[in-house]
Amino acid sequence: MKRFVILFVLAVMLPASAAESQSTWAFFAPDPSQPAAAPDKAPKQVPGSKRSYTMAQIDDLKNPPDWFPNEHAAMPNVVAHGAAGNVLACASCHLASGMGHPESASLAGLKQAYLLRQLNDFKSGARKNAIQVNGKPEMNATQYMVGIAQGLSYADAKAASQWFANLKAQRGWVKVVEAAMVPKSTITSGYMRVAVPGGGTEPIGNRIIELPQDVKRQMLRDPHSGTIAYVPPGAIEKGRALATNGRACETCHGTDLTGVADVPSIAGRSPTYIFRQLYSFKSGARAGAASTPMQAETAGFSESDMVALAAYVASLPN
Ligand code: HEC
Ligand code: HEC
Repeated sequence: MKRFVILFVLAVMLPASAAESQSTWAFFAPDPSQPAAAPDKAPKQVPGSKRSYTMAQIDDLKNPPDWFPNEHAAMPNVVAHGAAGNVLACASCHLASGMGHPESASLAGLKQAYLLRQLNDFKSGARKNAIQVNGKPEMNATQYMVGIAQGLSYADAKAASQWFANLKAQRGWVKVVEAAMVPKSTITSGYMRVAVPGGGTEPIGNRIIELPQDVKRQMLRDPHSGTIAYVPPGAIEKGRALATNGRACETCHGTDLTGVADVPSIAGRSPTYIFRQLYSFKSGARAGAASTPMQAETAGFSESDMVALAAYVASLPN
């Protein structure tokens, strides 16, 4: 018990930058030292939508907001409301546009066969957390996805994956910018990385710091408000060289890296998400039957290679 207490204190005392040096920056463990948000009952709106929701409604993971119902086909019930038990509404984390946030994933326009395979891999344990912060698997957004896949019926998996496959990926959702200094940021209890208000800047180091273009709108799950991803200076060009060297990514992911058959598009998607996947293939945490080529691909990559590759592919048009 005493040992546990000492370890815990040490973990809490580590400065964020040291804690983030082992790629935990890509894995969204909430900062435990944040003040609780003040209750807010005011109705909220986003530009261009006639609807309004309170914060409690926006954060209801079984009934998330649908700001622009005319921009997509009718949602299957599981996408809008989830199902029994752990099965939360897909649209709460992946948004009603399917573009998601850096801590989840964009699903819009990915092939149904690919999406179904991922749901199976989460369910079987072939795809899991690569990093457990303080040994606590629940302190990571990916753990929610595992729980959801475990509770999902095949009928719901089919309906949801077909609906997401039919959405069109949104251009310009992520803006990739090279920068040596970035705003100091933190992970909220809702698993979002946000700038610390008045927190100044810090060196980017070997990280991707992806922040909301508009923090208020991201909190409201506005599907028209994307992210700005800061990447280290020189990362995009370094990534381009790696991506086109030897057996190029295009061989399997297709011209422009927008995907072929059930090999997914990787162009224009969140670089934080892309890095997390490369890291997970390499570490063996993502080891589904179709992951073998990616485990081979990533075996020789360093973490800064993977940061560069993620920066490059995210900078391409989707
Ligand atoms: C509580 C948040 C949350 C909800 C709700 C949620 N997901 Fe996810 N989902 C995630 C996270 C986080 C990831 C990224 C996991 C990772 O990085 O490996 C993810 C990843 C995925 C992926 C893999 C994407 C890829 O490109 O490989 C699929 C498929 C997916 N989710 C489908 C669904 C479906 C279908 C639903 C509804 C039944 C759903 N998700 C609901 C959080 C969520
Ligand atoms: C030999 C074929 C092959 C090559 C070459 C290849 N990939 Fe892949 N990649 C795949 C397959 C197949 C998958 C799907 C894996 C799965 O379903 O688990 C994949 C998945 C991915 C994913 C996960 C996407 C998601 O939605 O979660 C990323 C990221 C990725 N590849 C990046 C790259 C990059 C960057 C390169 C070049 C350095 C590359 N791949 C080269 C076959 C390949």
